[in-house]
Amino acid sequence: MATNHISVPTEEERLSHLLEISESLNDVRDLDTVLESILHQARSIANADGGTIYLREGDQLAFSYTQNATLDKGDHNTQSVNSYAAFKLAINRKSIAGYVAATGEPVNLEDVYNIPADSPHTFDSKYDKEIGYRTRSILTVPLRTTRNELVGVMQVLNAVRDGVPGRFTERDQLYISLFANTAAVAIDKAKMTRAIVLRMIRVAELRDPTETGPHVNRVAAYSSEIYRRWAARNQVPEDEFRRNRDQLRIAAMLHDVGKVAIPDSILKKPGKLTAEEYAVMQRHSVTGACLFGDAGSDWDAMSAEIALRHHEKWDGTGYPGRVDIDAEPIVNGPGLKGEEIPIFGRIVAVADVYDALTSRRAYKEAWDEDDALETIRQDAGTHFDPGVVRAFDEVYPVVKVIRNKFAD
Ligand SMILES: [Fe+2]
Ligand SMILES: [Fe+2]
Repeated sequence: MATNHISVPTEEERLSHLLEISESLNDVRDLDTVLESILHQARSIANADGGTIYLREGDQLAFSYTQNATLDKGDHNTQSVNSYAAFKLAINRKSIAGYVAATGEPVNLEDVYNIPADSPHTFDSKYDKEIGYRTRSILTVPLRTTRNELVGVMQVLNAVRDGVPGRFTERDQLYISLFANTAAVAIDKAKMTRAIVLRMIRVAELRDPTETGPHVNRVAAYSSEIYRRWAARNQVPEDEFRRNRDQLRIAAMLHDVGKVAIPDSILKKPGKLTAEEYAVMQRHSVTGACLFGDAGSDWDAMSAEIALRHHEKWDGTGYPGRVDIDAEPIVNGPGLKGEEIPIFGRIVAVADVYDALTSRRAYKEAWDEDDALETIRQDAGTHFDPGVVRAFDEVYPVVKVIRNKFAD
């Protein structure tokens, strides 16, 4: 294709790119990282400035993930803040996404501010106004599994052709629709994984009522945001970052599953624990690590590491320290110090303590968020890694949105 501009890929190149990225979706496990990666790739296939994924929840579509390259150029937190927004659309013909979900047909519009008067659907410009953006072209496709179940709807918006806004072509529509099939299967799989993890959490919750679904969702989301910032500050390569973040999302949820093995008399004791009882309580870290014992995958290895190390302290006064997890009885060793503590242990420590402080417990009210943040800052260098606390501070606007999304 000699007439093509040098930077424009040929159709062949686009197609092989499509196959490559479809395959890479198989490596992702966590729902949020799956959505992130799907949208990222869909935008690259169609040269789109932004996009949104809605997941079906009963007869509604829940806004579940969004990206926007233009808005993202401003503040590093913008994309995360927008993605944790929570709203739902009815599945009916009134909105564009609702229409696509209801009919199963893709919709390709050149300018949403000039939709033909006889179209059933309208564009709601409220969100544009809120975020200060001008949406033009939108391509919306259904996300259907091979069993033909609708898992959601994907939108890419504002096609860019040679640097200028344009419309999505027939080819774009074809490629995005093909990709949507792979994407739907990946989403379905990730939802199943998350459901299994949440079921494990529910088992732990039967034993320890503080270890709830919302608590672990918050801890995992905080940890993922802290890691995003920490990784940017520490020049973690993109590939490594994506892989770790995917594992972290799930592994962080499981930080306290070891509590299933702690007797009720200690776990549910209303008053202060005796020294012996506290020693038994501390064993949840080692027990948790044993649950993922024969690390069959990277994900198991990270889950074990987080379970084992989320109570270590930067100054070496945490537990279990240098310990042989196969010994009987288990004896805590001298605490790990500073960077001896694996980074994901240091991150989950901050996320878990912050969430405990800002949540209500049988023995205390929820702390005011500014007091909790102040405590975390003060404990940088003693309890917490100062670099992690700094990252936490920098993503704090997102932390607030997450608290809202996963409220008790
Ligand atoms: Fe714990
Ligand atoms: Fe916890």
